[in-house]
Amino acid sequence: MPGQADFHGFDDRAEADMCRSAALPDRVTLIDCQSVDSTNQVARGMVQNGTARPWTVISAVSQTSGRGRRGRDWVSPAGNLYTSTIVYPAAAASSRAQLSLVVALAVAEMAADVVAGARVTLKWPNDVLVAGCKVSGILLESCPGPAGQEGVIIGTGINVAHAPADTRYGAAALARFAAAPVSRNWCLARYLQALACWYEIWSDDGFDPIRTGWLARAHGLGARTSVSCHDVERYGRFAGLTSEGLMLLHGEDGTLHEIAAGTVGFSDPEVM
Ligand code: BTN
Repeated sequence: MPGQADFHGFDDRAEADMCRSAALPDRVTLIDCQSVDSTNQVARGMVQNGTARPWTVISAVSQTSGRGRRGRDWVSPAGNLYTSTIVYPAAAASSRAQLSLVVALAVAEMAADVVAGARVTLKWPNDVLVAGCKVSGILLESCPGPAGQEGVIIGTGINVAHAPADTRYGAAALARFAAAPVSRNWCLARYLQALACWYEIWSDDGFDPIRTGWLARAHGLGARTSVSCHDVERYGRFAGLTSEGLMLLHGEDGTLHEIAAGTVGFSDPEVM
């Protein structure tokens, strides 16, 4: 069982200064680990055995079997941020996919505080980009608890110090854009603050304010795009989000498509 975090135990003065300005939200119980297979896996075990209170956060310095979307690995060296936050949303199961946009918004808000003037944008559904490069990955997993309560594990990998070189997309680390050294622990606290805030807005007021916040950072709004899903590729212009968070694609034949899942690509260098 991982140990409890010594969250304020820094020996570095700059880091301690930064942490003073980003405290963990009260509701968070942080379990900070050195190395685990996957923080999502640790979180899953806790939900299943009924020991995970809402807003239990598992964080690790590194992961040996980090999981990405679509069964891919998430390479997880020390220096980046790996967290899994356990929540029990009251929202209907049909609305839970919106949570990935909520999480992306929180990561973007943290990233915007770190990078010095670089553009932070959101690519549907949940990619956070800095200057067009992906800086994080989000993996949401549902998991039932022993009393039938439906937990959602919000897995977030954030490239703080390192980024993979061999990706199909461009990846970058936040440190590349920062004017000062970036503290992993500051990023963790700031991300959790933003997540708690946006999650509460979503729970209390629904998707509308999330949609507005997300669109304010939307990557490639109005631009030519392709969306691929299950070997089907569609082309058109990115026309925004529905009131439920689906992607709107204005097809080349004039049809407006509502896309529930897919990988979005932009070919125009202006929006890359
Ligand atoms: C993606 O493929 O874009 C999603 C990657 C999600 C990685 C994070 S790192 C913390 C958490 N634990 C995991 O094993 N995966 C998620």
